[in-house]
Amino acid sequence: MRAIDIIEKKKKNYALSKEEIDFMVQGYTNGEIPDYQMAAFLMTIYFNGMSYKEIADMTESFVNSGDTVDLSKINGIKVDKHSTGGVGDKISIIVIPLVALCGVPVAKMSGRGLGHTGGTIDKLESIDGFRVELSPEEFIENVNKYKMAIVGQTANLTPADKKIYALRDVTATIDSIPLIASSIMSKKIASGADAIVLDVKVGSGAFMKDLDDARELAKTMVSIGKNLNRNTIAVITNMDQPLGYEVGNSNEVKEAIKVLSGKGAKDETEVALTIASFMCLLGGAFDDFDEAYRDLENKINSGLALEKLKELIKIQGGNPDVVDNPELLPKAKNTFLVKSELEGYVNEIDAESVGISAMLLGAGRKTKEDSINYGAGITLKKKIGDYVNKGEVICELHTDLDSVNEAYEKILSAYVIKDQVPEEKPYVYEVIQ
Ligand code: URA
Repeated sequence: MRAIDIIEKKKKNYALSKEEIDFMVQGYTNGEIPDYQMAAFLMTIYFNGMSYKEIADMTESFVNSGDTVDLSKINGIKVDKHSTGGVGDKISIIVIPLVALCGVPVAKMSGRGLGHTGGTIDKLESIDGFRVELSPEEFIENVNKYKMAIVGQTANLTPADKKIYALRDVTATIDSIPLIASSIMSKKIASGADAIVLDVKVGSGAFMKDLDDARELAKTMVSIGKNLNRNTIAVITNMDQPLGYEVGNSNEVKEAIKVLSGKGAKDETEVALTIASFMCLLGGAFDDFDEAYRDLENKINSGLALEKLKELIKIQGGNPDVVDNPELLPKAKNTFLVKSELEGYVNEIDAESVGISAMLLGAGRKTKEDSINYGAGITLKKKIGDYVNKGEVICELHTDLDSVNEAYEKILSAYVIKDQVPEEKPYVYEVIQ
């Protein structure tokens, strides 16, 4: 086989065999195929797309390029969840205890934040003592005993995806649905998931800016799941503005605690309960979505969910007192108030700009090497649909910095305020299964 013939074939829009895809992926990963040939190959995929079968073969090849996590010693159906990335997205922290309470094992492997989106691992590390490095034995033991554990990703999972993603980043081939879908699904499959619930975000703060693209991405990932025998459901959710009111690490833990105590914002409560309900369905705890949803609401209202979060924090070495007393979480030194320069209804809050503003305040990383300030972040005081007067506070910036000009300008520009009342949009658009 020769790379040039495979590139030529895809250029002419013929379907590739599993062997041809594997030849390209493994050859590139081990250095036999150079960047320029892989770049050309990626561009042919960008323009000509791939069939569902080709995308599944590509995903499998990514999985086979590195280690895979063996969760076979965990009893039950291991259901993972993945979000395509949002701002203020603390859904994982909410769903882990909820799903575990239903007896479905949650063996979660999560990442750190980079750029405008935060990472669950960083958020949990804002809790004093919380350990995200567990040995494989401790991880498995905790899931069997408590039905939940979370670790940062350490194993050499999907190196092919890592290398190809870096090349996509500099060859304008990131925004290709076959490439995004295979990249995401390969990581979930390599981490040992039996079943997967995907939270596909759509809107200004998401990868997918419109519903048609989000639907296509969702369908593609669900088809990969079908092809590779992993039951997969995708939920398309709104990311036209940050989820909830808090952005930043300890801020988001605080808000997750609120949701689990039944006092959370409507948007993130609905998204979290929807994702958790589907995880419970795939894990075999319920047969009916509405029944699962109602049961999870009861678990919140009865206080059980909050107790389970305390247990999660405790078994991972963190201080569970933060649940009853969130004031124990790290706080930034300074708070700056952002005031509206206009009067009217909030029509848009560009989530990406909010994420960048939070990063500038110290809540996120510009590069992988940056350190973060757990107490830094943003509290939104106004969301889409709210009325604001001129001079009224629209959000608070929390930071250790003494001046915040850039972050202030960024968040001010994120708010679009107009005379007309904005159209109301759903929190959950569609479910693809
Ligand atoms: N997230 C991923 O993991 N991969 C992509 O290609 C895009 C988003």
